Amino acid sequence: MNLALYGSFVEHMGRAVYSGIYEPGHDTAEENGFRSDVAQLVRELGVTTVRYPGGNFLSGYNWRDGIGPKKERPVRLDYAWLTKETNQFGIDEFATWCEKYQIQPMIAVNMGTGTPQEAGYFIEYCNIAKGTTLSDLRRQYGREAPYNFKLWCLGNEMDGQWQTCHLDAHDYVKKARETAKIMRWVDPDIQLVACGSSNSMQQTFPEWDRLVLEGLYEHIDFLSCHHYFENRNGNTTDYLASFVQMENFIRTIVATADYAKAKVGSKKDMMISFDEWNIWSNESEPWDDYFKNGKHRFEVAPPILEQRYTLLDALVFSGLMCTLINHCNRVQMASLAQLVNVIAPIFTKPGGEAIRQTIFWPFQMVSQHGRGKALKFFDNVPQIDTLYGNAKIVQSAAVYNEEEKQIAFFTLNTELKQSVEVSFHLEDFGQTTVTEHITLQGKDLQARNTFAHPNAVVPRKVHMSPDELSRGAITLPPMSFNMVIIKTSR
Ligand code: AHR
Repeated sequence: MNLALYGSFVEHMGRAVYSGIYEPGHDTAEENGFRSDVAQLVRELGVTTVRYPGGNFLSGYNWRDGIGPKKERPVRLDYAWLTKETNQFGIDEFATWCEKYQIQPMIAVNMGTGTPQEAGYFIEYCNIAKGTTLSDLRRQYGREAPYNFKLWCLGNEMDGQWQTCHLDAHDYVKKARETAKIMRWVDPDIQLVACGSSNSMQQTFPEWDRLVLEGLYEHIDFLSCHHYFENRNGNTTDYLASFVQMENFIRTIVATADYAKAKVGSKKDMMISFDEWNIWSNESEPWDDYFKNGKHRFEVAPPILEQRYTLLDALVFSGLMCTLINHCNRVQMASLAQLVNVIAPIFTKPGGEAIRQTIFWPFQMVSQHGRGKALKFFDNVPQIDTLYGNAKIVQSAAVYNEEEKQIAFFTLNTELKQSVEVSFHLEDFGQTTVTEHITLQGKDLQARNTFAHPNAVVPRKVHMSPDELSRGAITLPPMSFNMVIIKTSR
């Protein structure tokens, strides 16, 4: 399984950058102004890649505004969120942050106001060693060696009417193809991600994906897709079944990609980059507040989309994580959107503490322990009818780590009141022993972690009875996310 599945996303939006990962003057800031308390939580979270600099912000952003001496950088209006961008953090700061905290960058080029030529200049600045005006400019600004960024996105959500300089599929294909050609001429070793659909409710889904794939198939390595999930009808069971909505979305995209493969006569399977996903309740801060009403009109780093997650949100989130693992043969990269403050697992106070939101926990449990080979398994689980179709009452994923000789089994029990007993049949793995059971659950589904109570929702170790241990069976409490570690002899 590709570890890029445990990626995340930092956009110049709200307080994701400023007072998120970057806050010079903060008590924990290191010499570059990066918050060490946040970096520590990012490390704990086990994030492997980070997509940058947007998001919708990207489509009006000029990367040149964020380089060079900080006091000479321009202050610009950001068209996406109608805020003000000071450009005190740009590509060099991001690259330094990634290197320092061992994160693989995933860089996006502007396909809205940007041009193919500018994308070429951008990759030249980043990846060419020396001897051109832009590569030498990078060296002049303090970075001798090229960054050699390998993952590049051709724009962001270009199917969305809300996007600055939104394109229809035909125009996107033309622009993305010419951009891809230039970028690969500059650096043939890069991997390119084209914009797929922004969500399954887009009227152009999945036609947009078909046209993009047919037009760009041999130019790209990944098709991106985005989806946010919310409690659409206030029904807890339906909300918990969001993983079915995600599964349906992935299946349609994979089917569309396979259709395009046959149509263009290609030999390769197209991989999917699910590079924005999370729980996002549009109700708390409606979309139109930003785009139509300019809620934080031209403020610098205002508190945008600072969703405070509940235990219930974390459980729904855990089901989505299992789905990503179960589809990792085609979904080879994913980015949790976002990382800090903006719909994020980490939440900070400017000048103050950084805390773990509830969704931090399922991400951390899975990314830290779900490393190795994703297993295909058969489960005999009852299904129920939900808003999104039939949903298993228990949603699971399993990852085998050959080096550690262990299986990490992740499982969400969606039953509101019933425990569920699970037993394993793992004959192919030799002698097996359940060694650990960690659970995330609680009485109050609306509980949140706050600055006053940062540990209101945390996972806890389950004491296994001798009977459970001897039978190798475990009990999943009602409404719980669980991680079970099974040691194997093979
Ligand atoms: O993550 C927040 C926003 O959601 C991103 O800017 C955009 O790509 C998506 O619509």
